[in-house]
Amino acid sequence: MEIKVGIIGTGRISNAHIFSLKQIERVKIFSVCDINKEVAKKKAEEIGCKYYIDYKEMIEKENLDCVWICTPADTHTEIVLYCIEKNLPFFLEKPPALKKEETEIVIEKLKEKDIIHSVGFMLRYDPAVEKLKEILKNEKVIFISSEWFWTIPLVDSIKSKEKAGGQIVDQAIHFIDLIRYVFGEIISIYTKRVKGFFPEEKLYTGDDASCSIFEFEKGIYGNLLCTYALFPEITKFHPPKIRFICKKKLIEYTHKKIVIMTSDKYEEFIWNQDLYYLEDKAFIETLISKNRRNIKSDYFDSTKTLKICLSANQSMEKNKIIQI
Ligand SMILES: NC(=O)c1ccc[n+]([C@@H]2O[C@H](COP(=O)([O-])OP(=O)(O)OC[C@H]3O[C@@H](n4cnc5c(N)ncnc54)[C@H](O)[C@@H]3O)[C@@H](O)[C@H]2O)c1
Repeated sequence: MEIKVGIIGTGRISNAHIFSLKQIERVKIFSVCDINKEVAKKKAEEIGCKYYIDYKEMIEKENLDCVWICTPADTHTEIVLYCIEKNLPFFLEKPPALKKEETEIVIEKLKEKDIIHSVGFMLRYDPAVEKLKEILKNEKVIFISSEWFWTIPLVDSIKSKEKAGGQIVDQAIHFIDLIRYVFGEIISIYTKRVKGFFPEEKLYTGDDASCSIFEFEKGIYGNLLCTYALFPEITKFHPPKIRFICKKKLIEYTHKKIVIMTSDKYEEFIWNQDLYYLEDKAFIETLISKNRRNIKSDYFDSTKTLKICLSANQSMEKNKIIQI
């Protein structure tokens, strides 16, 4: 049996999913859709499939088994609601939405219709994260310190905080989600920010840097330091990282890598799997088996992560601690 896949939004991240999907047995990318006709046409030619400029028309005409939603965040709710209406399984790129009210509408609909879906928190599929989860079960964590240093977004659609949510909602959301996944729930957050250092960037409305402190259910604290003030190559020298400070031990997670430091040992564990492939494969396998065990992030859980990120934004605006 062939799995007929449609791709909605053929920009930057769609390339990672298309690359992965092409390697998964039984998958056929049947059609792509982008509101930018030239972009859609070019992608369709590369893949050898049909293209559309209206996702509703594509869904109506193509009898697809599922879609990958790879459009900007401010379009997610509308497209997800249409998929639910049409009983169409969907893989949704993060963030699940931009507003809490949107997630409430989707959750109501998803409770009525039990549709197979997944939200793209690919770090949950990182073998290093599974290893980290195991390690942390036996550790007494004292503090969690995380950092994501980058540049003003290269893609225009993410430069606007109003349209994409800003750095925490769009990018550091991966770390908030990962920390919840491996360690536990966050119950309050306080965030301060600075902005206005880049008046020459006309489309940019985000924060230049922010510093959040969060409290966990377990009664300990963590922080998240974010900046867009640097340059694209910074991640080579200073990759985004999460450090778990334990008693006489430092455990550091970076993409696909864990380092454990003690007074007499420096241990490194490195993996090299493609995380988009792993999350896409898990979705396709679930579609075939109907067994959802392999899907590590569903819409319901992803909204808990989003809520924390939106609370960080709220905290910056109101200058107060937000209880989650
Ligand atoms: N998981 C990750 O690591 C990761 C990385 C990058 C982006 N993303 C997420 O993927 C999504 C897309 O980001 P991107 O960087 O690819 O953006 P992008 O701007 O490069 O691509 C988005 C594409 O969607 C198209 N589009 C917009 N509205 C549409 C609609 N209604 N119907 C069809 N097409 C539409 C645009 O024309 C554009 O080509 C965002 O939610 C982003 O947060 C995730």
